[in-house]
Amino acid sequence: MVAIAADVKYTIISFDEVTSTNDVAREHAKGGCPEGLVITAARQTKGRGRRGRSWHSESGGLYFSILLKPNLPSARVSLITLAAGAAVVEVLREQYQLPAELKWPNDVVVFDRKTAGVLCEGFHHPGGSSIIVGIGVNTNQPIASLPEPLQAAAGSVRALTGLEVDNDFLLKQILARFKHHYHSLHADGGRSVLESARQYTAMLGKEVTVITETEIYTAIACGLSDQGALVVEKSDGSQEELWAADVSIQTKKGED
Ligand code: BTN
Repeated sequence: MVAIAADVKYTIISFDEVTSTNDVAREHAKGGCPEGLVITAARQTKGRGRRGRSWHSESGGLYFSILLKPNLPSARVSLITLAAGAAVVEVLREQYQLPAELKWPNDVVVFDRKTAGVLCEGFHHPGGSSIIVGIGVNTNQPIASLPEPLQAAAGSVRALTGLEVDNDFLLKQILARFKHHYHSLHADGGRSVLESARQYTAMLGKEVTVITETEIYTAIACGLSDQGALVVEKSDGSQEELWAADVSIQTKKGED
């Protein structure tokens, strides 16, 4: 018998300033808080991204984390990052008519400019284990307010559309899309999340530069595996599955 999760029920707690919404959600998880808690903050003093990078979190942007306790095999837990990225892509396309795309594993880009990022962190605690899905969207920040080295490769919804974004509205839209994808991870084995992620991933079929601890090489990004790994074809024709924790990927416009 397959266990199907009931729809996640969200409870939103908002702060003016925190270190990182992922940290606050984690503390609540350790305290026994159920799945569905959403922590938002107007600013983060220690917002972080993948591979130890910091995430610039001045006022104006949307920063939030969702606490999850998924009833999924570990091979499917790895698809949660793609589910969150797909949710952001869909909302930016539908609500702001932006040609948003996924950049594996955790970025959302518009015209090759990084406009949102997803940071999933899993951990064990007394009474179980939790996944925290942290999402940051550059909404109302002027690009010039970001650190200089980021400016050439960053986008924000306002800079791209000229529209002032209602962050509460955007949050609720993304939460609704994510709920749909999260449910389908439990219900259909991840098929529809993978289908959406493959459709939205801009780099498929293109040349990328792969940066690992020990080597740098160019390859063609040719697909996403059923567990969400990036499959690349090297110049000798061999294929390799890359895992998000191990690599950085560079496309024409910059590193993830
Ligand atoms: C990345 O680009 O590597 C991921 C960035 C994720 C940023 C979000 S903002 C809300 C949540 N809190 C954090 O400290 N990080 C995530």
